[in-house]
Amino acid sequence: MDLSAKRLNVIEPSPTLVITAKANELKKKGEDIVSFGAGEPDFETPTHIRDAAKKAIDKGMTRYTAVSGTPELKEAIVRKFKRDNGLDYEKNQIIIGTGGKQVIYNYFLATLNAGDEVIIPAPYWVSYADIVRLSEGVPVIVNTAADNNFQITPEQLKKAITPKTKCLILNSPSNPTGAAYPKKDLEALGEIVLSSGIQVMSDDIYEKIIYDGFTFSNLAMLSPELKKQTFVINGVSKTYSMTGWRIGYGAGDIGIVKNMDTIQSQSTSNPSSISQAAAEAAVGGDQACVEEMRKAFEERRNTIVALLNAIPGVKCNNPQGAFYVFPYLTDVYKTPGFERLLKESSEKSLSKLFCNILLEKYKVAAVPGIAFGEDQALRLSYAMGETDIKRGVERIAEMIRDLNQ
Ligand SMILES: Cc1ncc(COP(=O)(O)O)c(C=O)c1O
Repeated sequence: MDLSAKRLNVIEPSPTLVITAKANELKKKGEDIVSFGAGEPDFETPTHIRDAAKKAIDKGMTRYTAVSGTPELKEAIVRKFKRDNGLDYEKNQIIIGTGGKQVIYNYFLATLNAGDEVIIPAPYWVSYADIVRLSEGVPVIVNTAADNNFQITPEQLKKAITPKTKCLILNSPSNPTGAAYPKKDLEALGEIVLSSGIQVMSDDIYEKIIYDGFTFSNLAMLSPELKKQTFVINGVSKTYSMTGWRIGYGAGDIGIVKNMDTIQSQSTSNPSSISQAAAEAAVGGDQACVEEMRKAFEERRNTIVALLNAIPGVKCNNPQGAFYVFPYLTDVYKTPGFERLLKESSEKSLSKLFCNILLEKYKVAAVPGIAFGEDQALRLSYAMGETDIKRGVERIAEMIRDLNQ
């Protein structure tokens, strides 16, 4: 009897989690690994948030909550949307789930029918395409250009829309490139969204990690009409260094929220009651910790971009946000040393081969760009101290020097 369901044929384990697990395993064995793999801030969760969780346990908030989240956390999220984005939502337009990832999954399960198309600008976050496939939708990948700051152009969007298009995914700032859409570029896309009537899933999870005075916008903030067509996803993982607490949330159409609630009620029920109390302190409490972490990320970004661009053959963008860089190794892949390795290996993906050797021989974990739809690049997460950034980039430089021999 075949015990694996056919739906597994259309998805893969998340490559970022695979690389992170491999790096952690090697670290446990005592190897000195520098890991640019994991997409999580390295800071402790701020004290006032941890204290709120401890209090929640002591007060006995250890039982099931409403499936879509506690009224208190929903109120804090409603206030957050008003405070940060000038957006008005009712509590019944909010759903809280076990991480932004679950909210995104429930959104697509709740909105897609078999064959519905979802436009995903590439490079894209690893999970989008697989979540769409699991929901019986069809990912339509649109390649963006590094010299257009990895943005889908209005012309590209127009061309990609068909009668089967249900949704466009926008993720700004982006994982994996860190690129963010300025308001005027969103306005141009917004016109097409309005005239075509498609939905937009706006993944704002990196909203607060932005640099050089960049002003964050999303489509819902542009007009009441666009707000109706936009479903906003956000969460506490990245903003408050709370990846393990697993709280994400979505806001949008009441009917969609209700359907997501139904799906959640038959799968996980409510997210952890204690994590919800902590998230309430995070979203509704003092925001000074957010600026402290943001500043540290900005300094690290400056360091890593400069170091990478100093390596011959590496071309690294200067991201406006998130904590990733997406350097292109196009010239490195053309070196005789790398071509020789490619010939000898059964691995056909350039970025996978590079990352395999980088980890095995040079003890640095990075995620192959192919996982995000771009084999010419790598994704490095710089959520680590400056010393480790320098050590890790020096090892990448050493590998590239060796390939040039
Ligand atoms: C672009 C993007 N969206 C959503 C998520 C989901 O985060 P979480 O499930 O921890 O809220 C991540 C996490 O890596 C991400 O990078």
